[in-house]
Amino acid sequence: MKLSVALLLLTGAHAFVAPSQSRTISSLSATVEKIELVPPRSTADMMKEQDATAKSYESHVQKTYGRYPLTIAKGEGCRLFTTDGKEYLDCVSGIATCALGHNNAALTEAVYKQMQECHHVSNLYLIPAQAALADWLTANSCAEKVFFCNSGAEANEAAIKCARKHAHNRGIEKPVIITAHQSFHGRTLTTITATGQPKYQKGFGYGGQMVPGFEYITYNNVEELESKVKEIQNSDRGLAAIMMEALQGEGGIIPGNDAFFTRIRELCDETGALMICDEVQVGMGRSGRLWGYQNLPVEPDIFTSAKALGGGVPIGSMMANAKAADVFGPGDHASTYGGNPLACAAGLAVAKYLCDHDVLNNVRERGAQLSAGLEQLAQQYPAVLGGVRGWGLLKGVETKDLAGPLVQAAMDEGLLLVAAGPNVARFVPPLIISKAEIEEALEKFGKAVKKYSESN
Ligand SMILES: Cc1ncc(COP(=O)(O)O)c(C=O)c1O
Repeated sequence: MKLSVALLLLTGAHAFVAPSQSRTISSLSATVEKIELVPPRSTADMMKEQDATAKSYESHVQKTYGRYPLTIAKGEGCRLFTTDGKEYLDCVSGIATCALGHNNAALTEAVYKQMQECHHVSNLYLIPAQAALADWLTANSCAEKVFFCNSGAEANEAAIKCARKHAHNRGIEKPVIITAHQSFHGRTLTTITATGQPKYQKGFGYGGQMVPGFEYITYNNVEELESKVKEIQNSDRGLAAIMMEALQGEGGIIPGNDAFFTRIRELCDETGALMICDEVQVGMGRSGRLWGYQNLPVEPDIFTSAKALGGGVPIGSMMANAKAADVFGPGDHASTYGGNPLACAAGLAVAKYLCDHDVLNNVRERGAQLSAGLEQLAQQYPAVLGGVRGWGLLKGVETKDLAGPLVQAAMDEGLLLVAAGPNVARFVPPLIISKAEIEEALEKFGKAVKKYSESN
């Protein structure tokens, strides 16, 4: 038994004394059970013993991830340090999330200050930080109104619900959302259905069916798009939305093309459907513009954000223009934590930092430097590397074999990368990365590619 339960006679016990007020529970004379809990170990304790973290994972953490055996103790800027004293240049940033890097003073201060005021109150009340962040997001995009949540999957779930309700209001009772093969939209049941990759759906069906109402086409393929829309419109179903990443991230760093997105916009306008852009990975500055769709000639009706929105503090948002901003009414959708003061304080700190430090310009310059360096390496090692793709600081280089071993070789050189699909090594460093750090990343990657090519 982990919990031992003892009986304790409490008389005149004193309650927790808050710094600004004191309260006494007087004459509480009753027989109550004292339940003794196993106290948690401190993080400092975990880090003292070399394998403590790995051992606990083995026994007590569900194995939903294939993890590298690195135990991260601390971060600073674009660097991560492990408990065994190794230093890494971080070109993963928590999978395109830590836009301001690690231990950023402005983000830390904002979160700390908000904790001292109030960090969570629920959406029963008005939250100044949520209002300010909604103002900033709408002032810098095509959106009019924002719904806040906690993650990318939740933001997309909100977009999908909004599209279904919008279709319902137009008399469509079998609403279809078109998404792309090789897309990625999250891990809830509905967002794995939206995700056009059967490997994420395997084992989660009901009689072989996922959530109904999703159809898939090849990304950037105008003919398939047109014929799918025609097929849906000529059936007893109706087109609710076309939902695409402005740049496919997990699918292998594939930027959307102008003709495809222009046609999506036209077809949505013709049919009354909503155009949705999933900006969870490419948004919040990573493309060199605030939103990925701003690299394309058209604007969506709805777009979603998460990851970099809080710089690593969990927050997500679903943003809508006039067509979709008022589809949800009270009770239609909700999230207990969504847009809480703490997460929104983080979002505001990221927003202010992007504005004050000309971060978007840095993303474009460092992105161009990274592309040029990767292209040079691809020319030098044509048997190992292929094409270089992406926008801003969301870059991928094709690998002729599986990307995994090359990502491992880079790690051995002190550079953290993450694969995007089976054959692409992805670079998603913090958006504040310096010129010297990009040079260093290219040098480390060059060494990794050289060693890999010599041993294969
Ligand atoms: C484009 C895109 N959408 C949605 C998600 C899911 O986001 P989350 O893991 O925060 O639910 C991801 C995550 O990688 C993503 O890249």
